Amino acid sequence: MSEPFPSPINAATRCCAVYGWPVKHSASPAMQNAGLAALGLNWRYLAFETNPADLRAAIAGAKAMKFIGLNLTVPHKLLALDMVDELDVSAKVWGAVNTIRFEGRTARSGWLPLREFNHDSPVEVRTHGFNTDADAIAVALREDFQMNLRGARVLLLGAGGAGRTAAFKFADAGVLELFLVNRTLVKAFEIVEEIKKKFPRVYVTASYPKAGVDLVVNATSLGLKASDALPFDGQLFSLRSTRMVYDMIYRPAETPLLKAAKAAGCRTANGLGMLLHQGAKALEIWTGQPAPVDVMRRALEKNVYG
Ligand code: ATR
Repeated sequence: MSEPFPSPINAATRCCAVYGWPVKHSASPAMQNAGLAALGLNWRYLAFETNPADLRAAIAGAKAMKFIGLNLTVPHKLLALDMVDELDVSAKVWGAVNTIRFEGRTARSGWLPLREFNHDSPVEVRTHGFNTDADAIAVALREDFQMNLRGARVLLLGAGGAGRTAAFKFADAGVLELFLVNRTLVKAFEIVEEIKKKFPRVYVTASYPKAGVDLVVNATSLGLKASDALPFDGQLFSLRSTRMVYDMIYRPAETPLLKAAKAAGCRTANGLGMLLHQGAKALEIWTGQPAPVDVMRRALEKNVYG
């Protein structure tokens, strides 16, 4: 059972939130509120369904109301790159923003996280964008499959915000071959060209592999609905050609892809581990303290598996 908060919601309660479209499936509030309570903070974490057309205004609103921080999920992670005042190196390197920290400045001090301002008010507030997804996918693959990305052959499905970040992380981690497939071809081509320039040692192509791979990763949103098609073309790729399948989706816990992969004899994992580790890192960015990872993991598992 999660630890209770130190006090009920009151006038001193501080806010964090996740913005997404859709967002009602999100397990982040359960996970982050368990983490905040375990740290004894009088903060709360909410979820707001935010139309992409309103994202800039929604970030400005949270800034005006001195939120502590935000997470961004589908489809905001790329859009937000142009909407924050400052980009952390992680957001620049991995090309997407999934975490925002609000920071304030006094007449005398430099920029400090807004958690530091309890009684005095900052003269100015800014948004600072980070990316905690990239490292989280590598940690999750290590935990779930005991796999090292170095030297691996990977088929990555999806070239949106999550796919793009994963592609660069995989290249940086030294995969041997990276096959990138996306419904909108031009997005996959763009990423392939960038990776060729930045990581010339990696064999990267915007097509299906002709031989077997070690790992397939789904970074598309196909699978969120039970009626969704598989996120790859069954004429061009068979699940019998991979040993492991990772789906970034965690709700449903078993997507049609994971079900088919199990039936084909693959080792499988859903996106729970990735969600946990990106969330733990985001919490550390907001609080400046180590995240209570085990508490957050338990809250997440309870929320997703019941
Ligand atoms: P995220 O930040 O989670 O990556 P996103 O940037 O909106 O969200 O990306 C969603 C991904 O799912 C993209 O790869 C998208 O393909 P397109 O680039 O062609 O849009 C993919 N996707 C969404 N719906 C899809 C569908 N019906 N069929 C195939 N791919 C789909």
